[in-house]
Amino acid sequence: MKSARNLENKDIKDKGKTIVVAISGASGSIYGVRLIKALVENGCQVLILISHAGRKVLAHEMGYDPQTSFLSFLGQYGVDFDKGRVPEIFSQDEIASAPASGSFVHHGMAVVPCSMKTLSAIASGYADNLITRSCDVSLKERRTLVLVPRETPLSLIHLSNMTRAASAGAVILPPTPSFYTFPKTIEDLVDTIVARIMDHLGVAHNLGSRWGS
Ligand SMILES: Cc1cc2nc3c(=O)[nH]c(=O)nc-3n(C[C@H](O)[C@H](O)[C@H](O)COP(=O)(O)O)c2cc1C
Repeated sequence: MKSARNLENKDIKDKGKTIVVAISGASGSIYGVRLIKALVENGCQVLILISHAGRKVLAHEMGYDPQTSFLSFLGQYGVDFDKGRVPEIFSQDEIASAPASGSFVHHGMAVVPCSMKTLSAIASGYADNLITRSCDVSLKERRTLVLVPRETPLSLIHLSNMTRAASAGAVILPPTPSFYTFPKTIEDLVDTIVARIMDHLGVAHNLGSRWGS
């Protein structure tokens, strides 16, 4: 298996998409986990960046043991690595890793969920860790950057940070699930958002039915 770090541009064209997924410390880790599952099972090479707070929320909301590997957690959650490629995982401190550079080509990045702190850093170009630096790079390289900001209610600061990030090219995709497809489980509900993220990343999927289909 080839490491994403060693992928060259020609490999990317030939072997499916390379997508960067960051999980920050907002509530809603399940959105990030289910996005990773869908991307891996659709044959994408996924680079996963997790903030320190993101690990804590994963532990609180999904029972992840931060002392263990996130890869084994994904396996226990049911991510089928046989359908795609094993993701690479980075901590927020690995600032010298591939997605921190514009010369590393990927097909899109999503921050899911995106905390107000990470949103604020992205909106102001404050690239102090691997997540915020990779977002900064995605914007400057004009690559797709999807932010799934989670907080409620929203202050004027939050709203203006979203406006600034959107003006710089980010897609602001709040986790506001839809009900018109009659979701029956939390996973169904979450997947109504994951489907929209996948659409913006340009990755094919079969998550739920489409209106009009
Ligand atoms: C259980 C839990 C839930 C949280 N939920 C949110 C949230 O929904 N939105 C948010 O902006 N911050 C939330 N926070 C606070 C962030 O984790 C905190 O601001 C942190 O510094 C964000 O760091 P990061 O952006 O580097 O991940 C939550 C924290 C915990 C422990």
